[in-house]
Amino acid sequence: MSKVKILVTGGTGYIGSHTVVELINAGFETVIIDDLSNSEQFILDRIEQITGVCPTFYNIDLCDKDAVEDVFSKEKNIVSVIHFAAYKAVGESISEPLKYYNNNLLSLINLLEVMKGKNVNNVVFSSSATVYGEPDILPITESAAIKKSLSAYGSTKQMGEDILEKLSAVSKINSIALRYFNPVGAHETALIGELPVGIPNNLMPFVTQTAIGKREVLTVFGDDYATPDGTCIRDYIHVVDLAKAHVKACERLIEGKNTSKYEVFNLGTGKGSSVLEIIETFKRVTGVNLNYKIGPRREGDAEQVYADTSLANNKLEWKAKLGLDEMINSAWKWEEQLKEKV
Ligand code: WQD
Repeated sequence: MSKVKILVTGGTGYIGSHTVVELINAGFETVIIDDLSNSEQFILDRIEQITGVCPTFYNIDLCDKDAVEDVFSKEKNIVSVIHFAAYKAVGESISEPLKYYNNNLLSLINLLEVMKGKNVNNVVFSSSATVYGEPDILPITESAAIKKSLSAYGSTKQMGEDILEKLSAVSKINSIALRYFNPVGAHETALIGELPVGIPNNLMPFVTQTAIGKREVLTVFGDDYATPDGTCIRDYIHVVDLAKAHVKACERLIEGKNTSKYEVFNLGTGKGSSVLEIIETFKRVTGVNLNYKIGPRREGDAEQVYADTSLANNKLEWKAKLGLDEMINSAWKWEEQLKEKV
Protein backbone atom coordinates (compact mmCIF):
# COMPACT_ATOMS: atom_id res chain seq x y z
CA MET A 1 0.00 0.00 0.00
CA SER A 2 1.49 3.39 -1.00
CA LYS A 3 2.34 5.77 1.82
CA VAL A 4 0.41 8.99 2.44
CA LYS A 5 2.42 11.79 0.85
CA ILE A 6 3.10 15.07 2.68
CA LEU A 7 4.73 18.10 1.07
CA VAL A 8 6.96 20.06 3.46
CA THR A 9 8.04 23.51 2.34
CA GLY A 10 11.19 24.67 4.13
CA GLY A 11 11.87 21.04 4.96
CA THR A 12 15.67 21.39 5.16
CA GLY A 13 15.34 24.14 7.74
CA TYR A 14 15.55 23.88 11.51
CA ILE A 15 11.96 22.96 12.43
CA GLY A 16 11.22 21.62 8.96
CA SER A 17 13.96 18.99 9.04
CA HIS A 18 12.94 17.76 12.49
CA THR A 19 9.35 17.54 11.28
CA VAL A 20 10.36 15.55 8.17
CA VAL A 21 12.12 13.05 10.47
CA GLU A 22 9.01 12.65 12.61
CA LEU A 23 6.76 12.34 9.53
CA ILE A 24 8.97 9.54 8.18
CA ASN A 25 8.99 7.89 11.61
CA ALA A 26 5.19 8.05 11.55
CA GLY A 27 5.08 6.23 8.19
CA PHE A 28 4.48 9.14 5.82
CA GLU A 29 6.18 9.74 2.47
CA THR A 30 7.75 13.21 2.41
CA VAL A 31 8.50 15.65 -0.40
CA ILE A 32 10.54 18.77 0.41
CA ILE A 33 10.51 22.11 -1.36
CA ASP A 34 13.29 24.43 -0.17
CA ASP A 35 15.33 27.21 -1.80
CA LEU A 36 18.23 26.62 0.63
CA SER A 37 18.29 30.36 1.43
CA ASN A 38 18.49 29.59 5.15
CA SER A 39 19.52 25.93 5.21
CA GLU A 40 21.97 23.52 3.59
CA GLN A 41 21.51 20.48 1.36
CA PHE A 42 23.63 18.20 3.59
CA ILE A 43 20.63 18.15 5.93
CA LEU A 44 18.97 15.74 3.46
CA ASP A 45 21.78 13.24 4.01
CA ARG A 46 21.42 13.70 7.77
CA ILE A 47 17.67 12.97 7.53
CA GLU A 48 18.54 9.79 5.64
CA GLN A 49 21.15 8.85 8.25
CA ILE A 50 18.50 9.23 10.97
CA THR A 51 15.54 7.58 9.23
CA GLY A 52 17.02 5.44 6.46
CA VAL A 53 14.91 7.41 3.99
CA CYS A 54 16.04 10.31 1.80
CA PRO A 55 13.05 12.58 1.09
CA THR A 56 12.30 13.70 -2.45
CA PHE A 57 13.77 17.20 -2.75
CA TYR A 58 13.01 20.14 -5.03
CA ASN A 59 15.35 23.11 -4.80
CA ILE A 60 12.91 25.81 -5.86
CA ASP A 61 11.71 29.22 -4.74
CA LEU A 62 8.03 29.28 -3.80
CA CYS A 63 7.85 32.78 -5.27
CA ASP A 64 8.26 31.09 -8.67
CA LYS A 65 4.68 29.93 -9.17
CA ASP A 66 5.43 27.89 -12.31
CA ALA A 67 8.05 25.94 -10.39
CA VAL A 68 5.54 25.24 -7.62
CA GLU A 69 2.98 24.16 -10.21
CA ASP A 70 5.59 21.83 -11.71
CA VAL A 71 6.20 20.09 -8.39
CA PHE A 72 2.50 19.46 -7.85
CA SER A 73 2.25 18.09 -11.40
CA LYS A 74 5.13 15.70 -10.79
CA GLU A 75 4.15 14.70 -7.25
CA LYS A 76 0.73 13.11 -7.55
CA ASN A 77 -1.47 12.47 -4.53
CA ILE A 78 -0.04 15.00 -2.08
CA VAL A 79 -2.53 14.70 0.80
CA SER A 80 -1.36 17.54 3.03
CA VAL A 81 1.13 20.39 3.02
CA ILE A 82 3.15 21.73 5.96
CA HIS A 83 4.32 25.25 5.14
CA PHE A 84 7.48 26.34 6.96
CA ALA A 85 9.26 28.24 4.18
CA ALA A 86 9.58 31.89 5.19
CA TYR A 87 12.17 34.44 6.24
CA LYS A 88 12.16 34.67 10.03
CA ALA A 89 14.71 37.18 11.31
CA VAL A 90 12.67 39.67 13.31
CA GLY A 91 15.29 42.42 13.30
CA GLU A 92 16.02 42.10 9.58
CA SER A 93 12.31 42.29 8.85
CA ILE A 94 12.18 45.70 10.54
CA SER A 95 14.98 47.09 8.36
CA GLU A 96 13.85 45.30 5.18
CA PRO A 97 10.02 45.01 5.34
CA LEU A 98 9.44 44.59 1.59
CA LYS A 99 11.80 41.60 1.48
CA TYR A 100 9.61 39.93 4.11
CA TYR A 101 6.19 40.91 2.72
CA ASN A 102 7.22 39.87 -0.78
CA ASN A 103 8.76 36.53 0.15
CA ASN A 104 6.57 35.38 3.00
CA LEU A 105 3.24 36.41 1.53
CA LEU A 106 3.84 35.69 -2.17
CA SER A 107 5.18 32.21 -1.40
CA LEU A 108 2.11 31.43 0.72
CA ILE A 109 -0.31 32.77 -1.90
CA ASN A 110 1.43 30.86 -4.72
CA LEU A 111 1.31 27.68 -2.68
CA LEU A 112 -2.37 28.06 -1.87
CA GLU A 113 -3.34 28.91 -5.46
CA VAL A 114 -1.54 25.83 -6.77
CA MET A 115 -3.04 23.67 -4.00
CA LYS A 116 -6.52 24.86 -4.92
CA GLY A 117 -5.89 24.08 -8.60
CA LYS A 118 -4.60 20.62 -7.79
CA ASN A 119 -7.32 19.84 -5.24
CA VAL A 120 -4.83 19.49 -2.37
CA ASN A 121 -6.92 20.68 0.54
CA ASN A 122 -4.99 20.31 3.80
CA VAL A 123 -2.41 22.80 5.03
CA VAL A 124 -0.57 23.19 8.34
CA PHE A 125 0.90 26.69 8.70
CA SER A 126 3.99 27.61 10.68
CA SER A 127 2.96 30.58 12.79
CA SER A 128 4.37 32.15 15.91
CA ALA A 129 3.52 33.42 19.38
CA THR A 130 4.91 36.69 18.10
CA VAL A 131 1.40 37.36 16.76
CA TYR A 132 0.30 38.07 20.34
CA GLY A 133 2.91 40.78 21.01
CA GLU A 134 3.11 41.78 24.70
CA PRO A 135 0.36 39.65 26.31
CA ASP A 136 -2.20 41.21 28.68
CA ILE A 137 -3.05 37.90 30.34
CA LEU A 138 -0.83 34.89 31.13
CA PRO A 139 -0.75 32.08 30.24
CA ILE A 140 -1.66 33.01 26.66
CA THR A 141 -4.65 31.25 25.10
CA GLU A 142 -5.48 31.09 21.38
CA SER A 143 -8.27 33.62 21.97
CA ALA A 144 -5.84 36.23 23.31
CA ALA A 145 -5.80 39.58 21.53
CA ILE A 146 -3.73 39.79 18.34
CA LYS A 147 -1.86 43.09 18.45
CA LYS A 148 -0.32 45.04 15.61
CA SER A 149 3.15 43.53 15.22
CA LEU A 150 6.30 45.60 15.75
CA SER A 151 8.01 43.65 12.94
CA ALA A 152 7.19 42.87 9.32
CA TYR A 153 7.99 39.27 10.18
CA GLY A 154 5.26 39.19 12.82
CA SER A 155 2.86 40.94 10.43
CA THR A 156 3.45 38.28 7.76
CA LYS A 157 2.50 35.61 10.30
CA GLN A 158 -0.67 37.51 11.24
CA MET A 159 -1.54 38.06 7.57
CA GLY A 160 -0.73 34.44 6.75
CA GLU A 161 -3.20 33.30 9.39
CA ASP A 162 -5.80 35.74 8.06
CA ILE A 163 -5.33 34.50 4.48
CA LEU A 164 -5.85 30.92 5.61
CA GLU A 165 -8.90 31.73 7.72
CA LYS A 166 -10.63 33.61 4.89
CA LEU A 167 -9.67 31.11 2.17
CA SER A 168 -10.74 28.12 4.27
CA ALA A 169 -14.14 29.72 4.79
CA VAL A 170 -14.93 29.79 1.07
CA SER A 171 -13.01 26.85 -0.39
CA LYS A 172 -12.27 23.19 0.17
CA ILE A 173 -9.05 24.13 1.97
CA ASN A 174 -8.83 23.02 5.63
CA SER A 175 -6.06 24.68 7.61
CA ILE A 176 -4.35 24.61 10.99
CA ALA A 177 -2.06 27.39 12.19
CA LEU A 178 0.50 26.37 14.80
CA ARG A 179 1.79 29.24 16.97
CA TYR A 180 5.27 28.33 18.19
CA PHE A 181 6.60 29.77 21.41
CA ASN A 182 10.38 29.42 21.63
CA PRO A 183 11.72 26.40 19.74
CA VAL A 184 15.15 25.23 20.96
CA GLY A 185 17.31 22.11 21.02
CA ALA A 186 18.23 19.52 18.41
CA HIS A 187 17.67 15.89 17.47
CA GLU A 188 19.20 13.42 19.97
CA THR A 189 21.61 12.15 17.29
CA ALA A 190 23.07 15.67 16.92
CA LEU A 191 22.79 15.08 13.14
CA ILE A 192 20.29 17.92 12.65
CA GLY A 193 19.79 21.14 14.54
CA GLU A 194 19.64 24.92 14.22
CA LEU A 195 21.99 26.44 11.62
CA PRO A 196 21.82 30.17 12.33
CA VAL A 197 23.35 32.24 9.53
CA GLY A 198 25.73 34.88 10.90
CA ILE A 199 25.30 36.28 14.41
CA PRO A 200 22.37 34.48 16.08
CA ASN A 201 19.32 36.56 16.98
CA ASN A 202 17.98 33.97 19.39
CA LEU A 203 19.13 33.16 22.90
CA MET A 204 19.94 29.45 22.70
CA PRO A 205 22.31 29.49 19.71
CA PHE A 206 24.02 32.52 21.23
CA VAL A 207 24.47 30.59 24.49
CA THR A 208 25.97 27.54 22.78
CA GLN A 209 28.16 29.61 20.42
CA THR A 210 29.51 31.60 23.38
CA ALA A 211 30.20 28.41 25.35
CA ILE A 212 32.03 26.80 22.42
CA GLY A 213 34.12 29.96 21.91
CA LYS A 214 32.58 31.28 18.67
CA ARG A 215 31.26 34.37 20.50
CA GLU A 216 33.14 36.23 23.19
CA VAL A 217 30.32 36.97 25.60
CA LEU A 218 26.57 36.54 25.92
CA THR A 219 24.71 39.75 26.73
CA VAL A 220 21.61 39.34 28.86
CA PHE A 221 19.18 41.90 27.48
CA GLY A 222 18.07 43.51 30.72
CA ASP A 223 17.67 42.34 34.30
CA ASP A 224 15.27 45.06 35.47
CA TYR A 225 12.01 43.44 34.43
CA ALA A 226 9.23 42.69 36.92
CA THR A 227 10.14 38.98 37.04
CA PRO A 228 11.61 36.95 39.92
CA ASP A 229 15.22 37.39 38.75
CA GLY A 230 14.65 40.51 36.63
CA THR A 231 15.21 38.78 33.26
CA CYS A 232 12.62 38.02 30.60
CA ILE A 233 10.60 34.83 30.72
CA ARG A 234 9.81 32.64 27.69
CA ASP A 235 8.18 29.27 27.00
CA TYR A 236 11.01 27.19 25.53
CA ILE A 237 9.89 24.06 23.70
CA HIS A 238 12.06 21.22 22.37
CA VAL A 239 12.10 21.22 18.56
CA VAL A 240 11.35 17.46 18.52
CA ASP A 241 8.19 18.01 20.59
CA LEU A 242 7.28 20.78 18.17
CA ALA A 243 7.88 18.47 15.18
CA LYS A 244 5.63 15.79 16.64
CA ALA A 245 2.82 18.33 16.99
CA HIS A 246 3.00 18.92 13.22
CA VAL A 247 2.49 15.21 12.59
CA LYS A 248 -0.55 15.30 14.85
CA ALA A 249 -1.94 18.37 13.06
CA CYS A 250 -1.49 16.67 9.68
CA GLU A 251 -3.24 13.54 10.93
CA ARG A 252 -6.09 15.65 12.34
CA LEU A 253 -6.76 17.16 8.91
CA ILE A 254 -6.25 13.92 6.94
CA GLU A 255 -8.63 12.06 9.25
CA GLY A 256 -11.17 14.89 9.04
CA LYS A 257 -11.13 15.40 12.81
CA ASN A 258 -10.86 19.18 12.55
CA THR A 259 -13.98 20.79 14.03
CA SER A 260 -13.71 23.92 11.90
CA LYS A 261 -12.20 24.80 8.55
CA TYR A 262 -9.48 26.93 10.22
CA GLU A 263 -8.00 26.03 13.60
CA VAL A 264 -5.22 27.58 15.69
CA PHE A 265 -3.09 25.92 18.37
CA ASN A 266 -0.40 27.21 20.73
CA LEU A 267 2.68 25.02 20.82
CA GLY A 268 4.61 25.48 24.04
CA THR A 269 5.18 23.64 27.30
CA GLY A 270 3.04 25.98 29.39
CA LYS A 271 6.11 26.65 31.56
CA GLY A 272 8.09 29.89 31.55
CA SER A 273 11.87 30.08 32.09
CA SER A 274 13.97 33.22 32.55
CA VAL A 275 17.17 34.04 30.70
CA LEU A 276 19.22 33.55 33.88
CA GLU A 277 17.49 30.20 34.46
CA ILE A 278 18.58 29.13 30.97
CA ILE A 279 22.15 30.21 31.72
CA GLU A 280 22.25 28.40 35.09
CA THR A 281 20.67 25.28 33.59
CA PHE A 282 23.19 25.33 30.74
CA LYS A 283 26.11 25.43 33.18
CA ARG A 284 24.61 22.65 35.33
CA VAL A 285 23.66 20.34 32.45
CA THR A 286 26.85 20.71 30.40
CA GLY A 287 29.41 21.48 33.11
CA VAL A 288 30.65 24.24 30.80
CA ASN A 289 31.09 27.78 32.06
CA LEU A 290 29.35 30.60 30.20
CA ASN A 291 30.76 34.10 29.88
CA TYR A 292 27.87 36.54 30.14
CA LYS A 293 27.14 40.09 31.14
CA ILE A 294 24.03 42.11 31.85
CA GLY A 295 23.27 44.69 29.16
CA PRO A 296 20.42 47.04 28.32
CA ARG A 297 16.96 45.82 27.39
CA ARG A 298 16.37 44.84 23.73
CA GLU A 299 13.70 47.01 22.13
CA GLY A 300 10.41 45.22 21.58
CA ASP A 301 11.05 42.39 24.03
CA ALA A 302 7.99 41.25 25.97
CA GLU A 303 8.55 40.77 29.69
CA GLN A 304 6.85 37.37 29.99
CA VAL A 305 5.49 35.03 27.30
CA TYR A 306 4.27 31.52 28.01
CA ALA A 307 1.45 29.40 26.60
CA ASP A 308 -1.80 27.87 27.72
CA THR A 309 -1.41 24.61 25.79
CA SER A 310 -4.69 22.93 26.81
CA LEU A 311 -6.29 23.26 23.36
CA ALA A 312 -3.38 21.52 21.62
CA ASN A 313 -3.17 18.94 24.42
CA ASN A 314 -6.84 18.05 24.00
CA LYS A 315 -7.52 18.47 20.29
CA LEU A 316 -4.16 17.40 18.86
CA GLU A 317 -3.76 14.72 21.53
CA TRP A 318 -0.25 16.09 21.93
CA LYS A 319 1.77 17.34 24.88
CA ALA A 320 5.38 18.49 25.06
CA LYS A 321 7.38 15.81 26.87
CA LEU A 322 11.00 17.05 26.87
CA GLY A 323 12.22 19.41 29.57
CA LEU A 324 14.80 22.18 29.75
CA ASP A 325 17.65 19.77 30.52
CA GLU A 326 17.04 17.80 27.31
CA MET A 327 16.58 21.02 25.31
CA ILE A 328 19.89 22.42 26.48
CA ASN A 329 21.84 19.17 26.40
CA SER A 330 20.74 18.49 22.80
CA ALA A 331 21.52 22.08 21.74
CA TRP A 332 25.00 21.74 23.22
CA LYS A 333 25.69 18.33 21.60
CA TRP A 334 24.65 19.86 18.25
CA GLU A 335 26.98 22.86 18.74
CA GLU A 336 29.87 20.55 19.64
CA GLN A 337 29.17 18.43 16.51
CA LEU A 338 29.13 21.58 14.37
CA LYS A 339 32.59 22.51 15.63
CA GLU A 340 33.93 19.08 14.62
CA LYS A 341 32.37 19.52 11.17
CA VAL A 342 34.09 22.83 10.43
C1 WQD B 1 14.57 35.00 24.15
C2 WQD B 1 14.94 35.78 25.39
C3 WQD B 1 15.72 38.01 24.97
C4 WQD B 1 19.41 36.84 22.93
C5 WQD B 1 11.93 35.29 18.85
C6 WQD B 1 11.01 35.82 17.83
C7 WQD B 1 9.82 34.91 17.69
C8 WQD B 1 10.26 33.49 17.48
C9 WQD B 1 11.20 33.04 18.57
C10 WQD B 1 10.13 33.03 15.13
C11 WQD B 1 14.47 37.23 25.32
C12 WQD B 1 16.82 37.15 25.59
C13 WQD B 1 18.19 36.80 23.59
C14 WQD B 1 20.55 37.34 23.60
C15 WQD B 1 19.21 37.71 25.55
N1 WQD B 1 10.88 33.35 16.21
N2 WQD B 1 18.11 37.23 24.87
N3 WQD B 1 20.41 37.76 24.88
O1 WQD B 1 12.58 37.21 21.20
O2 WQD B 1 11.34 35.47 22.60
O3 WQD B 1 11.30 35.33 20.11
O4 WQD B 1 12.30 33.95 18.56
O5 WQD B 1 8.94 32.77 15.11
O6 WQD B 1 9.09 35.35 16.57
O7 WQD B 1 10.54 37.08 18.26
O8 WQD B 1 13.40 34.82 21.33
O9 WQD B 1 15.61 33.81 21.58
O10 WQD B 1 15.45 36.17 20.62
O11 WQD B 1 15.00 35.78 23.03
O12 WQD B 1 19.11 38.11 26.72
O13 WQD B 1 21.69 37.41 23.05
O14 WQD B 1 16.37 35.82 25.49
O15 WQD B 1 15.71 39.30 25.57
O16 WQD B 1 14.05 37.59 26.62
P1 WQD B 1 12.14 35.82 21.38
P2 WQD B 1 14.94 35.14 21.58
